[in-house]
Amino acid sequence: MIYENLSVNLDGHLLFAGYDTLELAKEFGTALFVMDENRIRQRCREYQKAMAAYLPAGSHPLYASKAMSIKRIYQIMKEENMGVDVVSPGELYTAVKAGFPMENAYFHGSSKTDEDIRFAMEHKIGFFICDNADELDAIDAEAARQGICQKILLRLAPGIDPHTHEKINTGRVDSKFGVAIETGQATKLVGKTLAKKNIILWGYHCHVGSQLFDEALFCDTATNMLTFVADMQKQYGHTAKVVNLGGGMGVPYTEEQGKIDYAGTIQKIGAYITALCQQLQIAPPAILMEPGRSIVADSGITLYSVTGTKEIPGFKNFVGIDGGMTDNPRYTLYQSPYTVYNAGKMNECADFVCTVAGRCCESGDLIQENITLPRPVRGDILAVLTTGAYNYSMASNYNRVPRPPVVMIGQNGPYIAVRRETYEDLLLCDQ
Ligand code: LLP
Repeated sequence: MIYENLSVNLDGHLLFAGYDTLELAKEFGTALFVMDENRIRQRCREYQKAMAAYLPAGSHPLYASKAMSIKRIYQIMKEENMGVDVVSPGELYTAVKAGFPMENAYFHGSSKTDEDIRFAMEHKIGFFICDNADELDAIDAEAARQGICQKILLRLAPGIDPHTHEKINTGRVDSKFGVAIETGQATKLVGKTLAKKNIILWGYHCHVGSQLFDEALFCDTATNMLTFVADMQKQYGHTAKVVNLGGGMGVPYTEEQGKIDYAGTIQKIGAYITALCQQLQIAPPAILMEPGRSIVADSGITLYSVTGTKEIPGFKNFVGIDGGMTDNPRYTLYQSPYTVYNAGKMNECADFVCTVAGRCCESGDLIQENITLPRPVRGDILAVLTTGAYNYSMASNYNRVPRPPVVMIGQNGPYIAVRRETYEDLLLCDQ
């Protein structure tokens, strides 16, 4: 099967992390997110081990928590000694409430308000990823007000086009994120930063895109970033302590996309960076990476109950489910592929070609089109794989659909990490 934590029992039921998905659906209801805690921990360790082994001293991963941002995840990241990237005061607050050590947190975002900056500093965030010159002034002013020196990384646009989906492409010169190297604006911003009294320029950050499969992209990005480090050393005598290459390592959503060897990829990037630093005659800075998807995506599945089928002869067959774009908007937004199983009929012939449609009043509310399943009937359980990243975190209450719970499979079995939203929850802010 596509992942090692999936199997099928003698009754033809799909097991996830050793647990019968039909039993989980019965116990916790549907729609339901299920996450495999052990696999999340394994992924963290895989990154840590490979980065320590193959990248310059001090290199380590930060979990990009936008992929899945709930208290329990930050607790796991704390236990695993991961750093985290938070992109909003809301993510930051969740991390604080989870007891995450804020000195290991990095505050991202291209539109930070004064209030956001104050909030992050009051919570003693370790690092700001400063996006632009206006933000730099605001961080400096707030740091002066609080009487501190704030460590920052400058977000650069390294001019790399990863040719991934347009909506998750972030490293080009004309990106909304960061300051471009190519235009000379980044160099100027370094000069401005070094003149600030309440700011310490720790290093540079970039992120070129998400769902990337070619390690050459990371090497090209490293070339542009480290060349910039060398240039800044020459121009201003400034030595970057770290270079953050961002996240983006891809995840297979279907069997055809194959398996990805993260450690092997990091090894190749590491060898490239070592040679590059020699060539540029700079001491290799510590490298940070910010994986989000590749830490949590394949640790999650979503279980739905089938509400029925609709066969339109000569056209198509629909399978209705008790969820959809409100818990997983990724097909609607990006036409993202997913693997879908009829979880109780794993040993039956998959010959029913169908489109899985959600419950929203919206024709585009689809989870997947033209897939084959063992013919589902009302009450069957569908499992959608690889939903651990950018599903719960992108879920909404459109059509006032309550968000599903998140059940983690931990050492001692399943437990509720986030409870199901109630109708009363939906009214909490209504006056
Ligand atoms: N670092 C930065 C600065 C980022 O902007 C991102 C993702 C990451 C790290 C983590 O990237 P990852 O390792 O997860 O690829 N909603 C989209 C993904 C948006 C990603 C935004 N930034 C999706 O569902 O595919």
